[in-house]
Amino acid sequence: MNNLKSYLDLLDRAGQQDVGMDTCHYLHIIGSLVAKKPQQVLEVGVGTALLTVGLVMALRYNQCGVLTCVDNWADWQGVEPPEIASLREAGVTVLAPVEERQFIAECPSGMYDFVVSDGDHKDSGSWVDDYFRITKPDGFIYFHDTNNHDRFPSLSCIEERVKELGLPYFHFTQSSRADERCERGLLFVVNKKA
Ligand SMILES: C[S@@+](CC[C@H](N)C(=O)[O-])C[C@H]1O[C@@H](n2cnc3c(N)ncnc32)[C@H](O)[C@@H]1O
Repeated sequence: MNNLKSYLDLLDRAGQQDVGMDTCHYLHIIGSLVAKKPQQVLEVGVGTALLTVGLVMALRYNQCGVLTCVDNWADWQGVEPPEIASLREAGVTVLAPVEERQFIAECPSGMYDFVVSDGDHKDSGSWVDDYFRITKPDGFIYFHDTNNHDRFPSLSCIEERVKELGLPYFHFTQSSRADERCERGLLFVVNKKA
């Protein structure tokens, strides 16, 4: 339990970040991972690494599963942030600098059972079918920033595609606190494919 407690302390110290997800969405994803027991976890778009650290802590709590992260460091002027070294030391496979488009296209099918996509905000929606292809049946997929059509039209189309495919989903879009921005959207999809 200590891994999870120290993650809660980290979130408390960090507060809400401009580029990061909402704290409640971190808590949801981490709780979901702890319960799902995935073997292969993929995070596209490391950003603040606040989620990445939580994924590591949750995998340690589960005593199973490994994490792969993909980033092109576009938000870091192309330079790997220094804290990434400690993620590598913790056993995370960090594939960088790597373009999301290229990684997803070249990734074998059915590789991952738990995926978080928060990388390419311009085009990611155009290869959403590949996300379903690389995720195992019954795998969980989270897409962030999916509820802002004006700013991220490609991402806001993902919900429509999920509906077309008849996949079960829930779109988290509601804030309850003044310091939240949950209306940016966190789309949770279960890859219920044949
Ligand atoms: C919004 S941040 C992710 C935030 C993260 N989920 C968090 O909670 O802190 C987006 C990340 O994706 C990376 N990124 C942006 N475009 C990308 C692309 N085309 N391919 C790979 N990574 C990309 C950026 O460098 C950045 O680290």
